Amino acid sequence: MEFQNILIQVDGHVATIRLNRPKVLNALNGQTMDELCQALDRFEADPEVRVVVLTGDDRAFAAGADIGEFAGVTPVGMLEGPRGKRWERIRAFPKPLIAAVSGYCLGGGCELAMACDIIVASETARFGQPEINLGILPGAGGTQRLPRAVGKHRAMEMILTGRHITAQQAYEWGLVNRVVPPEALLDEAYTLAREIASKAPVAVRLAKAAVLKSLDTPLEVGLDYERRLFALAFGTEDKEEGVRAFLEKRKPVFQGR
Ligand code: CAA
Repeated sequence: MEFQNILIQVDGHVATIRLNRPKVLNALNGQTMDELCQALDRFEADPEVRVVVLTGDDRAFAAGADIGEFAGVTPVGMLEGPRGKRWERIRAFPKPLIAAVSGYCLGGGCELAMACDIIVASETARFGQPEINLGILPGAGGTQRLPRAVGKHRAMEMILTGRHITAQQAYEWGLVNRVVPPEALLDEAYTLAREIASKAPVAVRLAKAAVLKSLDTPLEVGLDYERRLFALAFGTEDKEEGVRAFLEKRKPVFQGR
């Protein structure tokens, strides 16, 4: 499959998607988003792929939606266009997504990182929702995921002022998992990815689904959902292997079944 705006690779059980429009700081135009969705389709269908790392380059993870595509767009065009489906596709990706963020991570770029499950940031990373400066507001989850990550008041400040925050600030506010020197960014992301990829893949997917459910359901519903997924995991061969390996004092070998 040929892509123009992203680069993909698979190494063992870990796939990488690299946003690759460096001249425009990886601005997320429609084609880039389509390619990203196609890559996710492919990695979802590939049982060898267990975890996906999403990254950009040193200067930018992504500086947001491609502003050039906004001129002249009407409300109906915006509502009925393909944007919603693309973001929904990312949200529904069932395997863990790790964002490795260096440089600008703004607007749709920040929303893309927040749609991932874990965010590793380089010391150079800058996060922000600057849409207010364009006379619009975040439109790909920023007003919903940012308050869940950093709390209402901090999210309000970022969204209403459009100011960027540093990687360190993002860490202190709970937006990112860790901050590392730029040269260690991918190593850190891959270490996490490989560790997760060594676990039982079905249990990993169920656990991701259960954690995501906690963000949009009342506790009682979430607990019920968790109980059902927990029971489901008892139908896997990997559960038998994991329990047997523990009892036999050896490392489990998971098959993803
Ligand atoms: N869309 C299109 N092009 C972009 C872009 C974007 N979001 N961000 C940067 N670029 C382009 C610039 O136009 C410039 O292109 P030229 O060289 O052809 O002029 C190139 O990338 C480099 O950018 P700058 O020269 O501006 O670089 P800088 O270092 O001076 O500034 C920046 C970097 C602060 C990130 C600045 O580029 C900027 O403010 N970008 C826009 C950020 C933004 O507003 N993002 C939100 C977009 S809306 C959105 O994302 C909606 C949503 O919720 C989905």
